Amino acid sequence: MTARLVVLVSGSGTNLQALIDACADPAYGASIVAVGADRDAILGLERADRAGIPTFVAKVGDFTSRDRWDEALADKVAAFEPDLVVSAGFMKLLGPAFLARFGGRTINTHPALSPSFPGIHGPADALEYGVKVTGCTLFVVDEGVDTGVIVAQTAVPVEDDDTVEVLHERIKVAERSMLVDTVGRMAREGFAVEGRRVRFGA
Ligand code: GRF
Repeated sequence: MTARLVVLVSGSGTNLQALIDACADPAYGASIVAVGADRDAILGLERADRAGIPTFVAKVGDFTSRDRWDEALADKVAAFEPDLVVSAGFMKLLGPAFLARFGGRTINTHPALSPSFPGIHGPADALEYGVKVTGCTLFVVDEGVDTGVIVAQTAVPVEDDDTVEVLHERIKVAERSMLVDTVGRMAREGFAVEGRRVRFGA
């Protein structure tokens, strides 16, 4: 059985592209049934269009409250009946209505080694702190900021003359292969969350 993925994006969508490329191989075990965004006119949506994948947009500003937006986003995602929701550079926190429906099967990628440097400035915060090793984390989304149960992590070295951009690009290379490898395993083998641990296999 091929796992149905809905991918959520906010920006350039290089993680999405890595998943689109991986899904082209039937042996990968997953296919992207829709791509959603919280804004229009982003490269991520263009990548989906180019691949012939249906897209939808839910902008916070178009709703009377954050909760209404969260419900609408959950409805739009639900219409595609996903097995797994992948937040890949989606720059909004998913709320209670969304997690009530998709909690436990929504994953997010973060450009730092959790629990260090949560939030939207992971690479800058790592550089500022002076760590020699940072990386990326794939986790099951919960109500916190980058606090969910960890599915996979990859370490990335910090070089002496790194800028935030250079470091983030190095992390993103690791992030894409972590995402592709791990989503493939989740799709093919299944997974279970036990306390703070994720176990692969049905
Ligand atoms: C990734 O580093 C993701 O972890 C972060 O934003 C970046 C998104 O990149 N939150 P892209 O849109 O997949 O190229």
